[in-house]
This record gives sequence, C-alpha cells and structure tokens, in this order.
Amino acid sequence: MSDLIQRDGKVCWHPFTQHGLESEPLAVVGAKGAQLELEDGRKLVDGISSWWATLHGHGEETILKAINEQYGRLDHVLFAGATHEPAVRLAERLCALAPQGLNRVFFSDDGSTAVEVALKMVVQRWVLRDQPLRRTFVAFEGAYHGDTFGAMAVGDPDPFFEAFRPLLFDVRRVGLDAQKVGAALDDLGERAAGVIVEPRLMGAAGMKIQPTGFLKSLEEAVHSRDLPLIADEVFTGFGRTGRLFACDSEDVTPDLLCLAKGLTGGMFPLSATLAREEFFEDFLSSDRSRAFFHGHTFTAHPVGCAAALASLDLIADHDTPRLFERIGKRLFRSLADLNQNPRVHNLRQLGGMVAFELSSDQPEGYLAARSQCLRKVAQEHGVLLRPLGDTLYALPPACTNEQELDQIASALHAMVKTND
Ligand SMILES: Cc1ncc(COP(=O)(O)O)c(C=O)c1O
Repeated sequence: MSDLIQRDGKVCWHPFTQHGLESEPLAVVGAKGAQLELEDGRKLVDGISSWWATLHGHGEETILKAINEQYGRLDHVLFAGATHEPAVRLAERLCALAPQGLNRVFFSDDGSTAVEVALKMVVQRWVLRDQPLRRTFVAFEGAYHGDTFGAMAVGDPDPFFEAFRPLLFDVRRVGLDAQKVGAALDDLGERAAGVIVEPRLMGAAGMKIQPTGFLKSLEEAVHSRDLPLIADEVFTGFGRTGRLFACDSEDVTPDLLCLAKGLTGGMFPLSATLAREEFFEDFLSSDRSRAFFHGHTFTAHPVGCAAALASLDLIADHDTPRLFERIGKRLFRSLADLNQNPRVHNLRQLGGMVAFELSSDQPEGYLAARSQCLRKVAQEHGVLLRPLGDTLYALPPACTNEQELDQIASALHAMVKTND
C-alpha cells in the first residue's frame, strides 16, 4: 500500500463510500485527455468522465489558459453588491444558448445547490404571490437531484436517503407518465408548487432513457396548469445527450434550468440556475424582505466563469454534442454482440452514453457487492467504470479516441464475461 493511500486511510472520508468494505482508493497523480495517471504508473481511461463532469477532456489547454489568466486578474470577489466581466459574459452566453425565455442566471457551486436554488425560487415566489400553501413538488420515481436536503427531498429516497426521510419535505412521486403528473397536480390543487425532472436521461436511476415525446407531454401537463417546470440538466447539459441541452430535443422550455458538472468543462466547481424573467420580476420590490434569500461565498466565482466561457467556445468550435453522438454510436456498435448474451438486457445509447443491465442469479440492487468486483475487472482492462447497481454504462469525455473507446468496450465485455 502506498504512503498516499495509507495517509488517506487515516484522514479522508470519501463520498458514497463504505470504508468498512471498499478496497483502497485509486491514487491518481495526473490526468490528460481521457486518461487518468496513477501513482504506480498505470493509466486508466476515464470511462465515466469523473462523475459525468469532464466534458472535453482532462487538462484541456484552452480552459487551463483561461483559468490561469483569470486567476492573475481577479481571483475572487463576493457577488453581493459587486459584479465582474466573466460572470456577466457567461450569463449573457448561457441565456443566448438556453431554451428561449430563460433570461436570468443565478450562480452557485454544484449540481445540488443549483437544484436547491430552483426549489427555493419556486417556494419563495409562491409566498410572494400570496399562495404560501403551494409547496408540494411533483417528482419522479428513481429521480436523483443531489445530496442537500431540498435536492434529497425531490430525489427518490431509495436506496440512498432512507436515514434522512423524516426530515425531507413531502413530495408527490410518480412514474414517467405525463397523465399521472397532471392527475397528481390536480389532486394537490392549491398545494401544487411545480414539477422537477431530469430531461431525457435519468443518470443515477440507472441511465434510464425516457420515451420520446414524454418531455413534451410533461411540459404541456405542467404549463397548462400554470405551474413551473424545473429541468435538472446538471448531468444532461452541454451535449451529453447529443443536443446542447436535453430539453432542445423536444423543444421544451422549462421555467428554471439547473446546470453544473460540464458547465466549466468539468474543470472547476460552478453551477447556474437559469430562470424566466417573470420569476425575477416577482422578487423585485422596494421591500428588502422580498429579496431572494440565498447565496454562497463563491457565487459566480470569476475563475469558474472564465473556465465556463472557454468551455462554451470549445463546444461551439468542436460541435461537442455531435462528438458525443459519434462516441456513443461507436461504443454501441462495439457492444452490439452483447445482445446475444441472455444476461445482458436493454443495450441502449443516447448521445455519448451507452448502458445495459447485467442480470445475475441473485438479482442485486444498487448497493450490490458485485459492483465493486466489476469495477476491479474494468481497472484490470485499463478503464475506470462504476456500475450503477445492475446497470453497466460508459460516458467518456468528448476527446476519447478510437483506441480508448475500444478499450472501454473490451472492459465492458470483460465485465459481462466475469459475470457468466
Ligand atoms: C441530475 C443531477 N442533478 C444533480 C446532481 C448533483 O450534482 P452535484 O453532485 O454536483 O451536487 C447530480 C449528480 O450526479 C445529477 O446527476
């Protein structure tokens, strides 16, 4: 065991990790493109874009340059009562790119806080509109929106959040059916606050692709009742599904849009909640108590904003959504023969994501021990992958080359074989 891993074992507490069971963490000393470099000299292809964040590739030069230049100019300043060029320019660019009508940008730090901001905007806005009872959201079975309390409440408590359930506010949870959403909203009546959805692709639920048309019918069900729709594109944003935003694929305009992960190309923690102007206007007042009461120390961090601007340039120059589509299709072709294996189910692709379910004699859930064993097999094949329960998937960065894609496909084949 290396010195680094030993020291880590004494002082670090890792996310979503059962330290009593899991093996040593990977000691990563560097990263470039699609590759992670380990302390022992091994290299691993980052098949999951380091938790779906790394967009173009690790160490992307133009983003690095933008980060370094911005650090030299303005490292940090509070965003209450102050502003700066990178934040304003980024807000302008995001509004121009996002579905029409999203004209205001509220910055925060990560996906969970972007969701938290959206939920709080909806709740406070109903209070400001003298409808304080409107505080029950409709959310989806299997949804994941992050780990802060509001985000946990709208997420499905199974299997992660059971311990916190008594502290989570009430949510009406439904399956992926717009009619059921409409019925739930009608049943809630004057208690209905709005609806939150991960459009097109539900990542943590097991890379679940929604049926085509679902999103559009959801938008109709929500908007016909004059309620707000929150689109959580923390995972799906910036080309992952083959479109810049997943909402674009069905021409859907949410009232609030949550962005994080790939916003900075995955190279700096920053998130944004985009809102319709009407939301902003409802908070406008000569009364201070009607201000939106939310903010983080590093809101609109100048370096994060500079990284995001450089990433948006790259997306435009390289047509990143198209690159992801190509990567996904190529992986899908390389895995097509798995369809012959009776244990492999529902091989699918959307944008740069491919996934399938792998059954075993003992059906196991998300917390299955098998997942750790499968991760090891992938690493032996030079690839970092983390199955989501029975779901095996890959989602590499846009720079991943053909050889690296073949390596990912071989690792997935090997994982299936181990299971036989
Ligand atoms: C759809 C979605 N929303 C929110 C989050 C939370 O983001 P973060 O981990 O940056 O807080 C995630 C994280 O995976 C996500 O997939």
